[in-house]
Amino acid sequence: MTTFPPRTLRLDALAYGGDYNPDQWSEETWKEDVRLMQQAGVNLVSLPVFSWPLIEKTPGTYEFGWLDRVIDLLWAHGIKIDLATATATPPAWLVRQHPDVLPHNADGTRLEFGSRQAYCPSSLTFREHALRLTEAMANRYGDHPALALWHISNEYGDHVPRCWCPISAEHFRRWLERRYGTIDALNTAWGTSCWGQNYTDYSQIEPPRTSMGPINPTQQLDFERFSSDALLELFQAEIDVLRRVTPDIAVTTNFMSLFKELNYWDFAAAEDLVTDDAYPDPADPYAHVPAALNYGLMRSLKGGQPWLLLEQAPSAVSWRDVNVPKAPGRMRLDSLQAIAHGSDGAMFFQWRQAKFGPEKYHSAMLGHRGENSRSYQETSALGAEIKKLGAIRGTRVTARTAVVVDWDSWWGSAAPDSLPSQRLDWLAQTRAWHGALYALGHTVDVVKAADLTAAYDLIVVPNLYIVDDDQAQSLTTFVENGGHLIVGPFSAVVDPTEKVHTGGAPGPLRNLLGVEVDEWWPVPDGQERTITPLPGADKSTPLTATIWTEWIDPTADADVIARYEGGVLAGRAAIVRNHHGNGAAWYVSAALTDDSLEELLRLVLEEAGLPTRPTSNRRVEIVTRTDGTTDYTFVLNHGTTAATVSVPTGAHDLLAGTDVTEHIEVPSLGAAVLRHPARYDQDLLTVTIPSKNIEV
Ligand code: GAL
Repeated sequence: MTTFPPRTLRLDALAYGGDYNPDQWSEETWKEDVRLMQQAGVNLVSLPVFSWPLIEKTPGTYEFGWLDRVIDLLWAHGIKIDLATATATPPAWLVRQHPDVLPHNADGTRLEFGSRQAYCPSSLTFREHALRLTEAMANRYGDHPALALWHISNEYGDHVPRCWCPISAEHFRRWLERRYGTIDALNTAWGTSCWGQNYTDYSQIEPPRTSMGPINPTQQLDFERFSSDALLELFQAEIDVLRRVTPDIAVTTNFMSLFKELNYWDFAAAEDLVTDDAYPDPADPYAHVPAALNYGLMRSLKGGQPWLLLEQAPSAVSWRDVNVPKAPGRMRLDSLQAIAHGSDGAMFFQWRQAKFGPEKYHSAMLGHRGENSRSYQETSALGAEIKKLGAIRGTRVTARTAVVVDWDSWWGSAAPDSLPSQRLDWLAQTRAWHGALYALGHTVDVVKAADLTAAYDLIVVPNLYIVDDDQAQSLTTFVENGGHLIVGPFSAVVDPTEKVHTGGAPGPLRNLLGVEVDEWWPVPDGQERTITPLPGADKSTPLTATIWTEWIDPTADADVIARYEGGVLAGRAAIVRNHHGNGAAWYVSAALTDDSLEELLRLVLEEAGLPTRPTSNRRVEIVTRTDGTTDYTFVLNHGTTAATVSVPTGAHDLLAGTDVTEHIEVPSLGAAVLRHPARYDQDLLTVTIPSKNIEV
């Protein structure tokens, strides 16, 4: 029997399988399930995610019989378990005995039992019952050989990311008191002398509820931080129980990609393995681009360690207004994209398509038609292919660029009011900057604006509204050591208490960026602004900005790279570059369109000494995983026409089982996984996509 290092996924192959809800089916059906799972190459299933009410029908009495039987049956068929602590949704009896476990919305309305996740994150009653169940699960199954991983709760914050009930309000006050100590310190931090908001006692403070006008921005920001921390506290409480009872078993909770409500840097630090649920919309022909950003985050949350795609839809979901299925090949390609980006497997929601309940129209590996369903045909074919990729397990993704993701800045810049413009959207900006790097052929990691290492040649900062001195120092050191940095508009505006930096933006980054911002000039809806062409570019193609521009003044040493044309800002600097130490820092004062961002980032990449694709392309993606000796280069064709791609020498296509020389033709929605001797910089230099094949 394989032995596994402590607190790692106990599986010696890439994971393949999905959520399994045996409690919705008869035991006769279970037998068919395991047979078909085996046939489809399933080696891991997640269960029993929502079964608390069946395990604990009456308080404190656990009925494990059915769960024992299903776990033993799965194990007898060689299938391991991502074992849920089953605390994602409380039983009705708990809610009725203790109605105060139910969450409230901002208006004070209590949310009623009738869906899932019917709990307030701060409820100690809920926590006590959840921990008791967690301990019972750990005692019961901690030594079971099928146990591969603990799956704590499910998608924290999916339905209830914030709660405004009296218990949450009390918890918020305690959190504030821990953060600020005296009430005077809180008054200073929140700037309560504005609009007469001063408090004389913590008991006077409430979460930001529906109010008469704009609410104190720091109060709102702190409520975001608190709400993320409240769920983290609950997560940590379950982790503590599991670490005590089963210290060697890895723990995870499934994330929801770039999810605004939870600071995943903190959540990832608490767990052993990052897992993600990804639902790119098949109706969007470019959904794979933000998916690459999400996967970049997942692999970066624990410093490049492999992660696991724990849920994706085999075809349609059931929770959009219009639920478009995945075209043949799309599910395979999406799965391979996640693996390319560092996932050690591909899992689905769910194994067998439901017959009842809100998810009966959600696709599953085994569709309503059973073995003949297209989803079973395609997922079982993929299960066979995944086995050919076993050598990839544990390898790391190579990336030379990274994007800064910072939840404080996301929350602060998303305040519902009192900003220069409500149109500058953190997620849209981050996706746009990442998308431009993607189009130019780069795989992009994600970093905090802290502890930056020289591992990257270029770090992009689309929108870092809140900057503290440590972050500023980290960014500065990165550039001094030879790194290239580019910072987008409305960055380094305020400190962590939302106070404008003395002297204005970009506050502690002023010297690094070589610029001072005088005033924000948001662009009215529907209008555009032009910016002079970049050096070396065709003089007839100016850059275009929408949404946002700024009145800035460069310092004497900084180079003005481009200027505004026309309008009030005509002739003023728009893009500035400042050589600092051994590197360079750029400041972009406008929200550029996708094409303009691509042009600008092409120039910045070239100056950083990094390769770029001759023609930008968002359809054909090339990502490399490596063990240092052998590279695995994934060629993923998300487009609707075939692409011809030149290949590195000594390449062998693991999926086709053939050696490849010079070129490979990858059909629409097709993929190749090329094994070849490691070459750190092979991605963009030797793999090219002839322009005739690239776009539809
Ligand atoms: C996820 C959830 C699953 C299932 C899935 C459907 O958010 O974790 O339980 O509901 O969505 O897409």
